[in-house]
Amino acid sequence: MELRAVRGMKDILPEQAARWQRLERTFRELVGRYGYGEVRTPLLEPTELFVREIGEDTDVVSKEMYSFERHEDSLTVRPEGTASAARAYVQHNVAGVEPVTRWFYIGPMFRAERPAKGRYRQFHQAGCELYGDVGPASDAEMIGMCAELVTALGVRDFVIHVNSIGSGPTRARYRDELTRFFEPHRAALSEDSQRRLATNPLRILDSKDPRDRELAATAPSVVDVLAEEDAKHFDGLRRHLDALAVPYHVDPRLVRGLDYYTRTLFELKITTGELGAQDALLGGGRYDDMIGNLGAKRPVPAIGFAMGIERILEVTAREEARIGPACYFAPMSEEATTRALLLAQNLRQSGHWCEVDGRGLSVKAMLRRADGLASRLAALLGADELATGTVTLKDLGRHEQERVPTTQLAEAVARRLAMPPLAAEEKAVDRG
Ligand code: HAM
Repeated sequence: MELRAVRGMKDILPEQAARWQRLERTFRELVGRYGYGEVRTPLLEPTELFVREIGEDTDVVSKEMYSFERHEDSLTVRPEGTASAARAYVQHNVAGVEPVTRWFYIGPMFRAERPAKGRYRQFHQAGCELYGDVGPASDAEMIGMCAELVTALGVRDFVIHVNSIGSGPTRARYRDELTRFFEPHRAALSEDSQRRLATNPLRILDSKDPRDRELAATAPSVVDVLAEEDAKHFDGLRRHLDALAVPYHVDPRLVRGLDYYTRTLFELKITTGELGAQDALLGGGRYDDMIGNLGAKRPVPAIGFAMGIERILEVTAREEARIGPACYFAPMSEEATTRALLLAQNLRQSGHWCEVDGRGLSVKAMLRRADGLASRLAALLGADELATGTVTLKDLGRHEQERVPTTQLAEAVARRLAMPPLAAEEKAVDRG
């Protein structure tokens, strides 16, 4: 029997891993400039943590968690990072030490969703959580940071949806409104939503069932029932976003699929249509009640977001030039191979990625491999080069070549790498 990876879970091979590392580096550097430090929490948490914080009626908890019993404990492989980070924040009494805390995390999350483009069962998030600031300035700063982040990662066509679902009393009033609205249409709702009508009518608004979606589209909007303080907070957020020149779209239908949110909600969506229904590149919001619910000595407001790494990489794949070795050595004899090994070792000490072709093939075959790896330079070593203590350095990015004494190879490589390669059209002309 051929064993394959679990459906909806993917291997990341070295060539793709290089893109992942670049994305992670950009993320770390950028959020670092805003003061975020890394937190690493276990992949397994008590099931109870997610049930209580994400909410029993959400799709994530009711259908998608990987949970199991071991030694009489019920454990769940984390479906998201916010509840885990909050658990760690409370457990280590971080609030007792610092008034404001900024954490980030990068790692795999697990949800048993139906696999589709942009939707996997093991996927990866890079996220940030900010504790101890009620906003709305911090909300605007975070949303602006998200725009800066996806732009730095090469995403061009996106829109940021923002909404407020208010705090406790607003939510209670909105629940009543929704119950009154949906009750006369009960029979037209999906079975799940008929149940949610009694337990959590807000969840009907993010149901994926077409029967629910049609009705949800005409449901009353939360903006109409926002309490005065919530409305003031939302106005403040919009004022700050305007001042920061962050483009956004107020979307009164945005509710997001997790129960813990209060006030600010946001989602950054790609507008090219290439991810179909999975158009959210990142999503987040405020969750001012969670830290108190988890048993902290005092309530602490919080806000955060998480970005789907697979989705970002899928929409930026076309934009990036492939990065290959700096120099590919093509030696034409055994003696030349020994010389190439030494030269490559020296070049690597100056920080360059080098590979030596030791297969004893023709120059043509070795150059084909250099091209396939997207190597910028190829160093040819034949009898003539050995006799004169030189290499023939071919600049594959510019269609030029020169003979270089081996003692000056490092300088020549550095000089070549500093020159821009020809654009694709110039290369075509150059080839005639
Ligand atoms: P979420 O909206 O469930 O929020 O997930 C955030 C992002 O993770 C989504 O926008 C999407 O890009 C990606 N994502 C989610 N599910 C999948 C999947 N099955 N396959 C691929 N990508 C996926 C949260 O998880 C919250 N914890 C965000 C947050 C942080 N709120 C406050 N702090």
